[in-house]
Amino acid sequence: MTIHESVIITSPEWMRRFVAARRAEGRRIAFVPTMGYLHEGHLSLVEKASELADCVIVSIFVNPMQFGPNEDLDRYPRDLDGDLQKLSGYPVQAVFCPAATDLYPAGFQTSIHVERVSAPLCGAARPGHFTGVATIVLKLFNILRPDIAVFGLKDYQQFQVIRTMVKDLDVPVEIVGCEIVRETDGLARSSRNVFLTPDQRAAAVILHRTLEDAATWISTGRLVRASEVELFLSERIAAEPQARIDYVSCRDAASLEAIDVLDSPVVLAVAVFFGRTRLIDNRVISV
Ligand code: PAJ
Repeated sequence: MTIHESVIITSPEWMRRFVAARRAEGRRIAFVPTMGYLHEGHLSLVEKASELADCVIVSIFVNPMQFGPNEDLDRYPRDLDGDLQKLSGYPVQAVFCPAATDLYPAGFQTSIHVERVSAPLCGAARPGHFTGVATIVLKLFNILRPDIAVFGLKDYQQFQVIRTMVKDLDVPVEIVGCEIVRETDGLARSSRNVFLTPDQRAAAVILHRTLEDAATWISTGRLVRASEVELFLSERIAAEPQARIDYVSCRDAASLEAIDVLDSPVVLAVAVFFGRTRLIDNRVISV
């Protein structure tokens, strides 16, 4: 394996200068925003970015603005050394790790609220979450001015929120989505999987299995309405004693609006607690 050297930058001002210098060299810049504790899912985005551009920048920043008061900001897993080690396997030019006080200095008071697409699902379950996400992502875009930004479809609603923001505000960046990376048994990779006990970890496979079964039932015409899909999802998942459902939903894949009959692409989205750990997963179906 080639070991790549990346520059580690903490100051937004230095980050800006670094990007300006790369741009002056005629490089195309691809950006991968993350909150760190990197796994194969994040690394697939880095890989994609390196295929699309000749300057890849990864940010690692656990963004306080997207966590609610009773959420897991304090216990969110962090391992900067491990992350840098993992990134050394990829051609990443710079890793941006700003301090919260640099991005949110005293006096900070602006936020970006993307209306309808933020409202259901995780937006309803985690008030303010997507405002925090959209605000930090736009801020990072303004510091880096990337040509391309790569996001995972694991956070499907986040992807749609960012796409909507970029379109509505004419942000000059191309948003690229990458497929969900999973463990061999189908569990979607997530930084939060580390919190699962062995029992919860074994039980969590129910999410992917149920989504796949629902996809089969839809494709064979056994489920034709969103309400039937939602009942199917909730009954299957609730049968797993370790699982506590936050939401299950079947919605229009692009707008995330509620639908009745499945006659255009849909997304099945679930959020389920295993103990204190909340996992999300989804499946897009082009009916
Ligand atoms: P984080 O949860 O660290 O995820 C960073 C990126 O990795 C997101 O685009 C997410 O969708 C993607 N990702 C995570 N797990 C994945 C998987 N199993 N397969 C494919 N992609 C995966 O999402 C955030 O951070 C933050 O909200 C952020 C956008 C950085 C703003 O703070």
